Amino acid sequence: MTEQTLSIIKPDAVERNLEDKIKSFYEKKNLKIFKHKKIQITKDEAAEFYRIHQTKAFYENLCNYLSSGPIIVMVLEGENAVIKNREIIGATDPSKANIGTLRQMYGISIDKNSVHGSDSLENAKTEIEFFFNK
Ligand code: CDP
Ligand code: MG
Repeated sequence: MTEQTLSIIKPDAVERNLEDKIKSFYEKKNLKIFKHKKIQITKDEAAEFYRIHQTKAFYENLCNYLSSGPIIVMVLEGENAVIKNREIIGATDPSKANIGTLRQMYGISIDKNSVHGSDSLENAKTEIEFFFNK
């Protein structure tokens, strides 16, 4: 099924000029960049985006980090885009991510792991709405 999902190129990767490399990697894997924009969000917006993690010890750090610099938000489109993006980005901790995944190739640490991917079709819809429909 053709789906849309949200990908974010996080501040650590934007800072290292990895935008073009990451975009072409997605396209090579048959995920089309349907929409994209470069933005910087506030800490409050990051807190809203990651509200599911509000009870976690890493929440404060996560919100500070995602709002610390420019990010690229992208709507990816393709066959089984949600799961495919999760496979392409790899495990949350770059040191545990499979070889050839974006986080294995570019991630610095569990917090600076370069990319985000929606984890379900339902969350993908909410996350796309969050960045593109308001
Ligand atoms: O991004 P992903 O869905 O793989 O992981 P998550 O469990 O939904 O966590 C969201 C983000 O929080 C991760 O991508 C990490 O950047 C960060 N995180 C962290 O800093 N420390 C942890 N122990 C777990 C996650
Ligand atoms: Mg997640």
